[in-house]
Amino acid sequence: MGTGHVELARAQQERWDLAYARRPQLHGAEPSVAARRAVEVFGAAGIDDVLELGAGHGRDALFLARQGFSVHATDFSETALDQLRHEAQRAGLDDRVTAALHDVRDPLPPADRTVNAVFANLLLNMAFSPSELRSLVAEVHRVLCPGGLFVYAVWSADDPCAQQWLPLEDGLSGHDGFVGRFFDRELIDELGEDWNLDEVTPYQEGQRLMLRMTMTKSAPGT
Ligand SMILES: C[S@@+](CC[C@H](N)C(=O)[O-])C[C@H]1O[C@@H](n2cnc3c(N)ncnc32)[C@H](O)[C@@H]1O
Repeated sequence: MGTGHVELARAQQERWDLAYARRPQLHGAEPSVAARRAVEVFGAAGIDDVLELGAGHGRDALFLARQGFSVHATDFSETALDQLRHEAQRAGLDDRVTAALHDVRDPLPPADRTVNAVFANLLLNMAFSPSELRSLVAEVHRVLCPGGLFVYAVWSADDPCAQQWLPLEDGLSGHDGFVGRFFDRELIDELGEDWNLDEVTPYQEGQRLMLRMTMTKSAPGT
């Protein structure tokens, strides 16, 4: 694990594990808005395999698999991943969905330039320090093939909760034991510096104002 909020990370991992244990299928069965968009974007690029980070209990991984993608889903909650595996098996999708425990503060397991698409809904807005966030995005860049795609969605700084949550260090905010970050355009542009930032789309999902980004890893000579 890199430098940064090690204690905070451990506490957040326990918090998420407990949340999934108390309420299985915490995020519901419906796919996220971002996952629906990812299907369009990845499909248009002829991609059929996806690495999902922070997959939770897998509502999006299962949706992507139903749309024909092979999905490798990771999360740092074993409880969520157990639910994901169980649901994949029940739905007969276990040949297309694999799940592995991984904390994204650690380097991503795939080798350089071996992944075509990465998807992360509501992961980058978790309790990461700015340097952990930069490392994570650099790791996604490292594992993607040239021309590979990264679709991610986060809480927007325009969400009213951004003003209501308790301000913590490093631009993080806390509420009810959860810690996260609300994203503004400056941060999105900074994280997209080594990429082609193809799409920054504000939208509403439930009560939340969100931002969805599509970024392409430049192919050499482009
Ligand atoms: C808001 S939930 C979103 C889950 C899923 N993407 C969805 O939309 O249903 C955030 C997820 O990120 C995971 N997470 C938070 N910090 C993480 C980390 N450092 N490494 C891996 N997963 C993490 C949590 O366990 C949780 O499942």
